[in-house]
Amino acid sequence: PEAQKANQKSQNGLQPVASYKVAILGAAGGIGQPLALLIKMSPLVSALNLYDIANVKGVAADLSHCNTPSQVQDFTGASELGNCLKGVNVVVIPAGVPRKPGMTRDDLFNINANIVKTLVEAVADNCPDAFIHIISNPVNSTVPIAAEVLKQKGVYDPKKLFGVTTLDVVRANTFVAQKKNLKLIDVDVPVVGGHAGITILPLLSKTKPSVNFTNEEVEQLTVRIQNAGTEVVEAKAGAGSATLSMAYAAARFVESSLRALDGDGNVYECSFVQSDLTDLPFFASRIKLGRKGIEALIPSDLSGLSEYEEKALEALKPELKASIEKGIAFVQKQP
Ligand code: NAD
Ligand code: LMR
Repeated sequence: PEAQKANQKSQNGLQPVASYKVAILGAAGGIGQPLALLIKMSPLVSALNLYDIANVKGVAADLSHCNTPSQVQDFTGASELGNCLKGVNVVVIPAGVPRKPGMTRDDLFNINANIVKTLVEAVADNCPDAFIHIISNPVNSTVPIAAEVLKQKGVYDPKKLFGVTTLDVVRANTFVAQKKNLKLIDVDVPVVGGHAGITILPLLSKTKPSVNFTNEEVEQLTVRIQNAGTEVVEAKAGAGSATLSMAYAAARFVESSLRALDGDGNVYECSFVQSDLTDLPFFASRIKLGRKGIEALIPSDLSGLSEYEEKALEALKPELKASIEKGIAFVQKQP
């Protein structure tokens, strides 16, 4: 009875402070599982819906024993997808195959394009007002795919569709803090462009707090941040790509979205979104998040760039443009 009382007390102390519903599509995967755990710990979440094509029942049963407020439910296979999405505020999509050594993110296109298309169709039908976080690679193409699907369904709101590039910022912050011996908590590096190779452009000249880098440091840090995904793919040697750091980064982006939905007026993140900051239709930059999604793009990061950054920005545009167009064409050419 004492244990029961203590348990009841702790349950009562753990009422959600807000009651948002979050769905993860691809929840039984390498990213999905630790991401579900981190979201289960959020006091802003009342319902956590986990969807996958297999193996999600056990993940949900396991997580549901954690004495945190959210209720966990599992949904398996296409016939349960609609129910998973009803009334959801934030949908996170890490469904799809990861890279193996020697592959580019674009090599995943043929499989993941279809997965993202199908899942976003269901989002359009069941929770068209939700914030949609796309993790599945190649992000530079899967976000335009999602936009086209939502347009075809007549529910596209560019303020609520996000390519998750938070991991690039997390990596940039970590590597810069290590190199310059700074306190991790203080460091913030905006990362713009896209999410593959040279399209990932950390703006080291805009690091906060202000830091001086030598040309060699800029070159070395930029290349490390651009290749950090490949660093993990090679270390895992065929067993997949970043999952734990990705879950950490995705949970941060979910928490930021929930804080914005809950009325916090001071939420900024980098994300790959529809954009007019450059001549490309989608571009990652810092954004201000609000109750209705993107409240503003932050153009100031792109002015006063270093010569190195100016050149890198021009150099990334052809690849990013081609990836965006490939995504759009994939949806438009379907009968
Ligand atoms: P994984 O193979 O471990 O997990 C993927 C999960 O998706 C599996 O559980 C699988 O069953 C599920 N899935 C497959 N088809 C599905 C469908 N139609 N509907 C629902 N679920 C489906 O892979 P992972 O390591 O979790 O990576 C997932 C994706 O995230 C990959 O495309 C990877 O490249 C990408 N990724 C992106 C970033 C980023 O920064 N945006 C970082 C890391 C990984
Ligand atoms: C990453 O940056 O870690 C992801 O995009 C996964 C990958 O394939 O590198």
